[in-house]
Amino acid sequence: MTGIAERIETERLVLRPYGPSDAERVLDVQSRLEVIRWLDNPPYTPMADLEAARQWIDRVLQREHEDPMQAHRAIEVRDTQVVVGGVLVARLERIDSGFVGEYETGWHLNPDSFGHGYATEAAAAMAQAAFGAGHERLVIDMYPDNAPSAAVARRLGAKELGEGPDPWYGDTSLMFELLP
Ligand SMILES: CC(C)(COP(=O)(O)OP(=O)(O)OC[C@H]1O[C@@H](n2cnc3c(N)ncnc32)[C@H](O)[C@@H]1OP(=O)(O)O)[C@@H](O)C(=O)NCCC(=O)NCCS
Repeated sequence: MTGIAERIETERLVLRPYGPSDAERVLDVQSRLEVIRWLDNPPYTPMADLEAARQWIDRVLQREHEDPMQAHRAIEVRDTQVVVGGVLVARLERIDSGFVGEYETGWHLNPDSFGHGYATEAAAAMAQAAFGAGHERLVIDMYPDNAPSAAVARRLGAKELGEGPDPWYGDTSLMFELLP
């Protein structure tokens, strides 16, 4: 299994694996409640320090090592080489049955980089790479009131599945699916 391309280039961006030198930028975004409160279930715990950022990067790399159909890429702007956020493909596990075999795609940006179309551009390229690697379906799953993220999903052309019980995270989510 070859997995998802390591380096993906778009018009304005490079998607590439995180490395140790990204720790400061990872800390900057992962310590912001206004970002992390959309990414997972509570409690939302802002990242504390650079050591935690380094561990986060190690975990991200380890996950892909365990399953190359997963990927988490730093989104770097070509012109400035600033890392503006991240985009991922991650394996999901159903809460009820423990079934593993579905994957989601997701994204986050540093608030200093909202409003330039970077998330949509990165997610479109990541999805294309994921389908190229053999994925047949990607789920997009979000809090029902995450309007900026729903707008990204719609711009990608994802099919809206609606709001309902979330089989992977629990509670209620707004869900989309993206097909090749
Ligand atoms: C979700 C999130 C990534 C969306 O960020 P975003 O900047 O709105 O999304 P994009 O990068 O696709 O940018 C789109 C915006 O850039 C604008 N834009 C400006 N220049 C642009 C360009 N050259 N090309 C495309 N769009 C451009 C678009 O008009 C749009 O603005 P609008 O929403 O006012 O219409 C961001 O809000 C975020 O990180 N939130 C916290 C984490 C999160 O919720 N993640 C998702 C969990 S499910």
